[in-house]
Amino acid sequence: MIRELTMEFARVTEAAAIAAARWMGRGEKDAADDAAVVAMRAVFSTVQIDGTVVIGEGEMDDAPMLYIGEKVGSGVDPKVDIAVDPVEGTNNVARGLPNAIAVVAIAETGGFLHAPDMYMDKIAVGPKAKGKIHLDAPVIDNLKAVALANDKDIEDLTVVILNRPRHEKIINEVRATGARIQLIQDGDVAPAVAAAMAGTGVDMLLGIGGAPEGVVAAAALKCLGGEMQGRLWPENEDDVERAKKLGIGDISRLLTMDDLVKTDDVVFAATGITNGDLVQGVRFFGNGARSHTVVMRSVTGTVRFIDAIHRLDKKPFTYRK
Ligand code: FBP
Repeated sequence: MIRELTMEFARVTEAAAIAAARWMGRGEKDAADDAAVVAMRAVFSTVQIDGTVVIGEGEMDDAPMLYIGEKVGSGVDPKVDIAVDPVEGTNNVARGLPNAIAVVAIAETGGFLHAPDMYMDKIAVGPKAKGKIHLDAPVIDNLKAVALANDKDIEDLTVVILNRPRHEKIINEVRATGARIQLIQDGDVAPAVAAAMAGTGVDMLLGIGGAPEGVVAAAALKCLGGEMQGRLWPENEDDVERAKKLGIGDISRLLTMDDLVKTDDVVFAATGITNGDLVQGVRFFGNGARSHTVVMRSVTGTVRFIDAIHRLDKKPFTYRK
């Protein structure tokens, strides 16, 4: 991937985050998402890529923009596959809760699992625990492995889990070990990435969330040297059929890092909409806004935080109130 493109992808997520942040706390998650989609697509069209959305806002019939299969970018090489989530954590934006991000991941063609819009059971850890956990292992074994790898006591670990009734069993199992839990209402990408980033205080993400979100997070974990494992979690026959159509015949197969992200050349960018584990949210002032973005590249493993001040009066309409 051309190195200079990483900055371009940061511009894409900045635009989406600023547009969505206007809607923070206003109780209208669809409006926040729509604003972010329009802004993200507008900035994508200025980027010198021949991109195809492989994880996006839905099927062509359901989503007017950034739908799966849509071409984005200026249409000149390099050819890339793109995973987008203009607002990851729409409810978080609508309620003003933490960890809503605008996020993209980019890989060479064929680099991402074409994850259907359904659930995935996931485990994510940082580089030290890579190779030492297994999705099917008992919770206590995984926690012991993460504690040992990080030279910590189990009681000092922080495990992030979506606060859902389906997680009652694993919540009880984690609590029984003495490990600490951060229950979140929505948005499991940021904490999955945070598990692999020193200093965030997050050691592990566990539980069932969106499959597309799993692939997006895995792109960042590849850059950071962490690990995610997943398994699709169909709720009905329709889920199974949709997975088959996307080429996933054996739905019960364990999905490793190399299944989720099949290339070693991937870029991940995320801008905070609300404050969170990874990045700060957008702050508005007068004629401007300040945004906080993380971009990373798997080829070098470099992680950059971009603290940007935007003069919105000098930018295109997509940024304005
Ligand atoms: P949206 O941004 O599409 O609303 O998704 C937010 C999210 O919380 C994801 O982070 C998570 O993977 C998934 O939804 C969990 O799904 P559910 O709310 O059905 O449990």
